[in-house]
Amino acid sequence: MMSLPILPTISTTFIVLSAITVAIGWYQIKQRRIETHKKTMITAAIFALIFFLIYASRTIFIGNTAFGGPDDLKIYYTVFLVFHIFLATTGAVFGIVTLLTGFNNKLSKHRKLGPITSIIWFFTAITGVAVYLLLYVFYHGGETTSVIKAILGF
Ligand code: HEM
Repeated sequence: MMSLPILPTISTTFIVLSAITVAIGWYQIKQRRIETHKKTMITAAIFALIFFLIYASRTIFIGNTAFGGPDDLKIYYTVFLVFHIFLATTGAVFGIVTLLTGFNNKLSKHRKLGPITSIIWFFTAITGVAVYLLLYVFYHGGETTSVIKAILGF
């Protein structure tokens, strides 16, 4: 039985939980359940925040893992990873603005942004799981170097 790295497994689980929660929140607003929609979307944001905190502390203190698969696949992996990072960053910015329009009752803006944010977030989760599988499940992760180590040299 192969072992999976604990922190990336936990953080990837939280992105998936966050996307599932957004889907539930979308379903709830389709049924005009506004208070439940609000609570569910706040929960989705908390899951996303937990993901980000684990991911960021791992990046700072332990480091990022290089792709450990075959060299000729590396370029495809890198392009895919950049696409995932782009989606995640866009999704985070859209997510914050969508939450703010919800809290501030700017509902015509919120109705336009809500579906876009949700769909970006679904693709963030799907591509995030794909990156996780490529990095740790299909292939063994390569070298891990921490930002602090890289900067301070210890
Ligand atoms: C503070 C948090 C939030 C509050 C108070 C809130 C409130 C609302 C309300 C009142 C509506 C109904 C608007 C209308 O039909 O007039 C709505 C719609 C919607 N919201 Fe939220 N929302 C929040 C967060 C979010 C977040 C974070 C997302 C996405 C990630 C989201 C996605 C949606 C979607 C998809 C719709 C349905 C739009 C449509 O089908 O026309 N909401 N929200």
